[in-house]
Amino acid sequence: MARLEGKVALVTGGARGQGAAEAALFAAEGAAVVLTDVLDAEGERTAAAISGRYLHHDVTSEKDWTRVVEAVIDRHGRLDVLVNNAGIWVTGRLTDTALADYRRVIEVNQVGVFLGMQAASRPMREARSGSIINISSIAGLRGAMSGFAYGASKWAVRGMTKSAAQELGPYGVRVNSIHPGLIETAMLHQLPGWDAGATPAYLQRIPLGRTAEAEEVARLALFLASDDSVYCTGSEFIIDGGMTA
Ligand SMILES: NC(=O)c1ccc[n+]([C@@H]2O[C@H](COP(=O)([O-])OP(=O)(O)OC[C@H]3O[C@@H](n4cnc5c(N)ncnc54)[C@H](O)[C@@H]3O)[C@@H](O)[C@H]2O)c1
Repeated sequence: MARLEGKVALVTGGARGQGAAEAALFAAEGAAVVLTDVLDAEGERTAAAISGRYLHHDVTSEKDWTRVVEAVIDRHGRLDVLVNNAGIWVTGRLTDTALADYRRVIEVNQVGVFLGMQAASRPMREARSGSIINISSIAGLRGAMSGFAYGASKWAVRGMTKSAAQELGPYGVRVNSIHPGLIETAMLHQLPGWDAGATPAYLQRIPLGRTAEAEEVARLALFLASDDSVYCTGSEFIIDGGMTA
């Protein structure tokens, strides 16, 4: 049986990369999927390919969140799963990150997740059921020297996940974080030196010796979205080939 039959899922940053893989797998498992992004052409194409729906949605905008969650409830009458996946990477250490860049990363990666959990938790609390999946990173588990702002934002996601899980658990709403390592998406190519010969050095730090495909993360997200994980909340799920072992 399809593992998300009858469920309605919202995936942010779903136009490409991991969000698109999650949207596709969720749809294949029977969910009605709404994917959102700021990349409209790519988002429309991705949604059409999986018979899902695309909505323009900047995750830093509270107004956009209200509109998107209302649109989901209007169309489907419920919201069972939110994947807070949208994110950006900016390279920069503590000593050379401009304040504007720091704020931009925090706005998308941290404030976006805060607004998303707030907006989705309203219908989920009423329904006394739901699963919120926040995409953090291994940069939310240890230092991230070359992406200082990114690391700060991903630690915040990990912390907010736990506070929200405590608050929403009594309403039957689960909140967990996923911590991917190096995943084959556009973001990977923004890592310092990745496209300039640094790849082998990165790979040496991964016991499994390879990067992962977005679909591999999607399978973990599927577990958290489905009732297979009904007793999991406030937890962090690492998918990194052993990089943080
Ligand atoms: N690729 C990796 O190695 C890796 C590792 C750990 C964590 N992550 C995290 O995984 C998530 C997905 O990233 P990805 O690897 O698929 O990269 P990606 O760049 O392909 O996807 C990110 C998506 O987020 C969207 N986005 C950016 N700003 C937005 C905004 N303000 N509003 C709405 N959407 C916005 C982008 O348009 C894009 O579609 C991110 O949160 C990222 O931080 C990625």
